Amino acid sequence: MRKISILFLMLIMIFTLSACQLNQAGEKSLTIYTERHYDTDQLLYDQFTEETGIKINLVRDEADKLITRLENEGEDTEADLLIIADAGRLGRAKDLNLLQPVESTILDSNVPETYQDPENYWYALTMRARVIVYHPDRVSESELSTYEDLTDPKWEGRIVTRSSSNIYNQSLMSSFIEIWGEDDALAWAEGLVANFARSPQGNDRDQAKAVVAGEADLAIMNTYYIGKMLYSSDPLEVEVAETIRVFFPNQDTTGTHVNVSGIGVVKYSEKQVDAIKLIEYLTSVDAQSSYANANYEFPVNPLVDPHELLASWGTFNKQNITLNTLSEHATLAAMLMNQAGWV
Ligand code: FE2
Repeated sequence: MRKISILFLMLIMIFTLSACQLNQAGEKSLTIYTERHYDTDQLLYDQFTEETGIKINLVRDEADKLITRLENEGEDTEADLLIIADAGRLGRAKDLNLLQPVESTILDSNVPETYQDPENYWYALTMRARVIVYHPDRVSESELSTYEDLTDPKWEGRIVTRSSSNIYNQSLMSSFIEIWGEDDALAWAEGLVANFARSPQGNDRDQAKAVVAGEADLAIMNTYYIGKMLYSSDPLEVEVAETIRVFFPNQDTTGTHVNVSGIGVVKYSEKQVDAIKLIEYLTSVDAQSSYANANYEFPVNPLVDPHELLASWGTFNKQNITLNTLSEHATLAAMLMNQAGWV
């Protein structure tokens, strides 16, 4: 009787094991931790699944929470890929040992070198610029020139931007530390704070709203929010986006500050081959315009044209710095901004 029970147990174990293997072999999948949440992204993932048979599982959350989650999960994580915005954050994920380097000649041709981690730990998927927006009734374009000029006393009480705890402003400040050095970057932050129309509050859209409401004449914000507001279902946002004008600073000098959203393969993923396939797909000519347009960002693949709104602004000169420096200077940037009284 005992022998029969053992035999029966062994049979169950063999059956379960082979069922597991069948499942693994029959159903390929990738799990992406992402902060993106657009319907067009889902259509791209569906198309990728149709072409490759690889299913996509999405875990959506805020970028910093996803990074913390990967840290906590360690090698037990189910994540194969991480998609987050800002090179400062991508660099942090790399520094925290959460990503692994990849090799792909297709990626090297899809994504220009300036938009990749130099050691291939992450690749940009989209690009955005941090620009000046202004009210055309109170500011003329000819008065604008550079980020440095924003410290001129002529702008006293006329500028708004969000808090220094925000990564976009930290990365902007990091870029100035890289280009000008620490002392000049601090002096810039002090001069900017002296011209604030109000204590920093709200997000990027709120700064544009403050300009249209007459609280300020200039704001610093990311380009994609202009598209998001222009095509918003909220009539106030549409009015704000239609009223403000966009200015790309430092065109004759060091270029406008740009940043990226990007993707990396998670360190403990064992599905590198399929994960690279997905990155190749998302950076391909076929996928790039819908992927970038979902958030009114610039495509990184140079063969793909941007959305008509972005194209209407024309081409512009960008800062010529390695994006990794944004995470390298992040701590110092936050410290200097605090020192300058930028809350
Ligand atoms: Fe944003």
